[in-house]
Amino acid sequence: MAAQEQTDYKRGILDQDVERVLIDEASLNRRLAELGAAITDFYADKDLLLVSVLKGSVLFLADLIRHIPIPHEIDFMATSSYGAEVQSRGIVRILKDLNKPIAGRHVLIVEDIIDSGHTLAYLTGMLAARNPASLQVVTLLDKPDRREVDIAVAWTGFSIPNEFVIGYGLDYNERYRNLPYIGVLKPAVYTQSDAGDPTE
Ligand code: PRP
Repeated sequence: MAAQEQTDYKRGILDQDVERVLIDEASLNRRLAELGAAITDFYADKDLLLVSVLKGSVLFLADLIRHIPIPHEIDFMATSSYGAEVQSRGIVRILKDLNKPIAGRHVLIVEDIIDSGHTLAYLTGMLAARNPASLQVVTLLDKPDRREVDIAVAWTGFSIPNEFVIGYGLDYNERYRNLPYIGVLKPAVYTQSDAGDPTE
């Protein structure tokens, strides 16, 4: 197949796996502006460091900081769960740590979604032990029905039902992150896949 034909064939192929759009681009933009304004007010006189948890939160971070027009820094962490253990014991593996110490800094963790809460419970515990001046969380999405451990979240974009969502950074099997909206994945996609049901 020629390159142009391949492009034409693949264009729109991800959208076809979306059962419905849960949060469209305009709604995302509006909410990010609100979150950015609230965060800007809160940190106006503070030394702000945003910590993005890879990979899902990169689109959220990139768009959010355009609504935070005060000086700040960004840094990244990468985590990985030990499969089922993260569910039962909250064990999270750190694949990439922060580049710099955070003692005395005002740290804002930027997450794309909170599900069981285990990832954030582990991360906030680990970062709090480094003596930041403050430690807060902003998440684009929250699935409160799935919570297994309590997490204090300062700012939430949207509370959503327990459906498997993709797009705007969120993946299934590493795909769909580039969709510009949050969508619900068609169950047929994961019932036909070896990767299994992501909502269980
Ligand atoms: C997602 C999300 C959070 C975590 C939330 O990351 O970005 O970090 O899961 O789940 P929890 O509340 O049950 O701990 P994921 O492991 O899918 O990695 P990714 O961001 O690279 O897609």
